[in-house]
Amino acid sequence: MAPVLILERLTVAFPLPDGGWLEATREVDLSLERGRVLALIGESGSGKTTVLNAMAGLLPAEARVTGSLGLDGGGSDLLAPGATREGVAGRRIGMIFQNPGASLNPVLRVGATVAEVAAVHQGLGRTAAWRAAVELLDRVGIDDPARRASDYPHRLSGGQKQRVAIAAALAGKPGLILADEPTTALDAMVQAQILDLLLALVDQDGVGLVLVTHDLAVAGAVADEIAVMYAGRIVEQGPAEAVVRRPLHPYAVALAGAALPFGGVAATGDAPFPELPPADPALPVTACAFAPRCPLAIDRCRSVRPPLEPQDRGHAAACWRAGEAAP
Ligand SMILES: Nc1ncnc2c1ncn2[C@@H]1O[C@H](COP(=O)(O)OP(=O)(O)O)[C@@H](O)[C@H]1O
Ligand SMILES: [Mg+2]
Repeated sequence: MAPVLILERLTVAFPLPDGGWLEATREVDLSLERGRVLALIGESGSGKTTVLNAMAGLLPAEARVTGSLGLDGGGSDLLAPGATREGVAGRRIGMIFQNPGASLNPVLRVGATVAEVAAVHQGLGRTAAWRAAVELLDRVGIDDPARRASDYPHRLSGGQKQRVAIAAALAGKPGLILADEPTTALDAMVQAQILDLLLALVDQDGVGLVLVTHDLAVAGAVADEIAVMYAGRIVEQGPAEAVVRRPLHPYAVALAGAALPFGGVAATGDAPFPELPPADPALPVTACAFAPRCPLAIDRCRSVRPPLEPQDRGHAAACWRAGEAAP
């Protein structure tokens, strides 16, 4: 079966006030089969949201974008910023954001938000679209959906809003769902429910899911494949279990919270290596971007950036010393 997603050599740059460019993602390749989950992890600022926005056509018009995107076995399109709503709709991508409130129109009944998507994508009339919306709300676990459909977003809890946002995404009958930290704003118990819901949809509908998270434990629990981003590049990628159990890149080792054999500081979550400033993606890249923070860095790391290369059964890392920091 053709992959639902093939992203090739995505590079996105944003203009800086001084006339330069900030490369937020660099030469990112991703691919995904239907019915599978790819987790994209990395600390804040590593470029995760930019990758999703580029695929969904949601980048601001001033962004400079190169790369190509192929969806569901179709031909691949060059990516362009500022794509129209129709263009994105045509891509059959469902997008779910971190803040579910922001993706719902506060002056529309939640049923109308879902029905609008169903009407546009499935060509349904008003009544049929509303009926489809109620069915979708039921499917995503909204109690008493026929009545709830008439509520405005402010009447719903954060978890319910995220369920509605998922229903709206599904109304477009997407082959691919992009979820950007969809549970970060929610309580722990609700987080687990929303992840379970997304996984059920992946299984039942055979959609592909790209899940952005900064939590490696979450990624390990739900994903088939994990890609680790650092300073705009994928520095490690492979089967989820392999990346969690045997991370190869020193940055991934730190994310995994493993004891570093060289006495380095391990941390999890959004801010590993808290004693060091985050890498500046605006710096020209002639070296490994992680070298300034890497306890294993050697001269070669500071002069030649290591390519992302397979090390072991589909498990790739961009590190001259891949595997040496693994516990
Ligand atoms: N619209 C924008 N204009 C300028 N810079 C941006 C814009 N969006 C993101 N960036 C910058 O791009 C980099 C990557 O950001 P982002 O993709 O949001 O990372 P993440 O989602 O991993 O936290 C950051 O340095 C961020 O400040
Ligand atoms: Mg983000």
